[in-house]
Amino acid sequence: MQVDLIVQHAAQLCTVPRHENGPQRGERLGDLGLIEDGAVAIADGRIVAVGPTPEVLADYQAREVLDAWGRVVTPGFVDPHTHLVWAGDRAHEFELRIGGATYMDIMAAGGGIMATVRATRAASLDQLVAETRPRLDRMLAHGTTTVEVKTGYGLTTADELKLLEAIRWLDADHPATLVPTFLGAHAVPAEYRGRTEEYVDLVVEEMLPAVVERRAAFPGPFFCDVFCEEGVFDLAQTRRILERAQALGFGLKLHADEFKPLGGTALAVAMGAVSADHLVHTPPAEIEVLGRSATVAVALPCTPFGLAEREYAPARALLKAGAALALATDCNPGTAWCESMPFAMALACRYMGLTPAQALVATTLNAAFAVGLGDRVGSLEVDKNADLLIIGAPDYRHLAYRFGTNLVEVVIKAGKVVARQGLPAHPTPPH
Ligand code: NIG
Ligand code: FE
Repeated sequence: MQVDLIVQHAAQLCTVPRHENGPQRGERLGDLGLIEDGAVAIADGRIVAVGPTPEVLADYQAREVLDAWGRVVTPGFVDPHTHLVWAGDRAHEFELRIGGATYMDIMAAGGGIMATVRATRAASLDQLVAETRPRLDRMLAHGTTTVEVKTGYGLTTADELKLLEAIRWLDADHPATLVPTFLGAHAVPAEYRGRTEEYVDLVVEEMLPAVVERRAAFPGPFFCDVFCEEGVFDLAQTRRILERAQALGFGLKLHADEFKPLGGTALAVAMGAVSADHLVHTPPAEIEVLGRSATVAVALPCTPFGLAEREYAPARALLKAGAALALATDCNPGTAWCESMPFAMALACRYMGLTPAQALVATTLNAAFAVGLGDRVGSLEVDKNADLLIIGAPDYRHLAYRFGTNLVEVVIKAGKVVARQGLPAHPTPPH
């Protein structure tokens, strides 16, 4: 049979199989479904065959062939938690934190998220798109083919809609797939200081309905998230926002236990959220509850690293409890301006005790389930979207073992080569 593209002779082809049609849960995390001398056949942007190269070549001929001799092939990364759309930067706050100020101190003093909100409100839609696009380009170059993107630096109805429009534009215009999340409850804006309840009214009564009106422009999954945190939105306010969002048809996500545990993780599970994210300070009883639930646990190791903090999400305990664990960058200008999923893997292995295989499943298959796309992306299976990477290393462990350089040589999105670096035109078999 004739196909569009065959990627062949991968030293290690990591298929990353689903377990019972779902993510890989608990201690079973880390099943790479590894095929030596593997190949993938692609037609119409979809995977039509996966297997040992001789078997795939016996059944398929391709218009175009890519050799991956001596290299690893993986699914494209799915980054399930980012705040990618913003204007400006916070380099000066980074310097203040190095000098001893805490993230929450800076936020209480009117900096932090509010500093980015001021810059983002001042930016036009075109400027926002222009500032965000290079970040998305770098993500793609580092292998991210699907990325969840939150609003949350507008905090007025009009500005939140502007961020959403930027997400829509970039999704249409960029090879990466963007999954939108409304995060109007990211911070209490300065003009509502001391009137959090009134701001929650605005989110519930004006913003959420206005966002729902734009729903038709976004055919895929669409989420609502809240920053449930001491000094930001408490548990009751979080519940109010999520309940309204759920009634309006949004999938749910939650920033839970990033700095202080407020009961957000148990709330996320009780409401059937698709994911609960951060989880650095989740109490043991809530880890158990999360482990037994269908809610994906999203850990964000770039955030404690970015803040030079010592505590990371308790991944081993989460796995022991049976959780479906995913990793994300949390890419944002305050705590973690990181565009690389392999860097998140490198941190997760060192500070959360994941094996390289577990980290790879957490950034692909499980991350796809964290954005509601587990049946479309995140693994190399027949009928899934042909989103895959050729990694310039002979063993998948190099993705986490090495850091600070980009090992991703070729990025294929929906069957098309969309980014390329370093790969010789005709790699040859090892002698
Ligand atoms: O996930 N916690 C809230 N939001 C981001 C930080 C956003 C910012 O500082 O601009 C986070 O860490
Ligand atoms: Fe976040």
